[in-house]
Amino acid sequence: MARADLIINLVRNGIEGDEKLFRKTVEAIAAEERSMKHFALAERLTELLKTSITQKASGQISESTDPGLRNSYYIVHPKKKLEDLILPKNVRATCDEIIEEHHRRDLLRSHNLEPRHRILLSGPPGNGKTSLAEAFANALMVPLYVVKYEGIIGSYLGETAKQLDRMLDQVKSQRCALFFDEFDALGKERADPNEVGEIKRVVNALLMQIDLMPSHVTVIAATNHPEMLDNAAWRRFDTKINLPKPTRSLVEEWLSSFQNKVGHDFGITNKTLSEKLKGLSFGEIEDFALDVQRRYVLGLPQAKIKNIISSRIKCIQKG
Ligand SMILES: Nc1ncnc2c1ncn2[C@@H]1O[C@H](COP(=O)(O)OP(=O)(O)O)[C@@H](O)[C@H]1O
Ligand SMILES: [Mg+2]
Repeated sequence: MARADLIINLVRNGIEGDEKLFRKTVEAIAAEERSMKHFALAERLTELLKTSITQKASGQISESTDPGLRNSYYIVHPKKKLEDLILPKNVRATCDEIIEEHHRRDLLRSHNLEPRHRILLSGPPGNGKTSLAEAFANALMVPLYVVKYEGIIGSYLGETAKQLDRMLDQVKSQRCALFFDEFDALGKERADPNEVGEIKRVVNALLMQIDLMPSHVTVIAATNHPEMLDNAAWRRFDTKINLPKPTRSLVEEWLSSFQNKVGHDFGITNKTLSEKLKGLSFGEIEDFALDVQRRYVLGLPQAKIKNIISSRIKCIQKG
């Protein structure tokens, strides 16, 4: 029988969906069983891990196959789904429309129309911009190419524009989503009068390239500071989606979904709890719920979820 702490880790990693730690824990259990001469069980565990690698190649990050582009972007094989996100109704409706336009693009094209494919996500941090970019890619069934600015706006002046062209050429060769996270970082540089001409030229070239991007490349940009983008940048996008901090009813919805996933309730109504979590982002609420869950799992069988919640709420109120 494996050690109790390993079993608890296993359950925790499973609940939290932390695949890397989950695998490590299974490996540790297999090693322990082997040391106890339970070879058949150890082998079965190792075999199971191998099959799950081949079945589940999604959600992983890989690099460009072109070594010259390694620093320009990385590729996420998206795992997050739209259904995993709690979205305001109008946002969800817009997402569904765009996905339909892509799935039925042949019909649109027969009428000389293209699906919308330039999306700007805005809103305060922790409310789903990065998650939504991944969920879009998942729904469109394409990889998500995440641009690394530091690799493009490199230290070699004059190389930048070339590197950008090279990256976009590669990206355009297939259906994909191209993600510019923290897009305002670029916009800001552009507005700064002290800034060297190089970056300005590159950003202009990039904006033009976004205009020219074929519709099989869905360009998604995210910003916490939409007010920093100038008109020229703003106009490039055919769809603007704002992801604000959640309303109380969205927090309630999130809490129900979390409790369903972990298989027990929080011993306090979602209405009361959502009031206490007012003003937090989804990311902060998620951190809170995972903290509670960790303390709960580690405190079993005596753990009282209600007490854990009240002590964690006090931490938030103090912080
Ligand atoms: N609308 C949402 N529904 C469910 N979970 C969300 C939502 N928005 C954010 N989260 C969770 O909060 C965390 C931070 O979200 P993220 O997408 O990185 O936000 P942003 O990119 O806007 O800063 C993620 O782990 C995500 O699962
Ligand atoms: Mg983000």
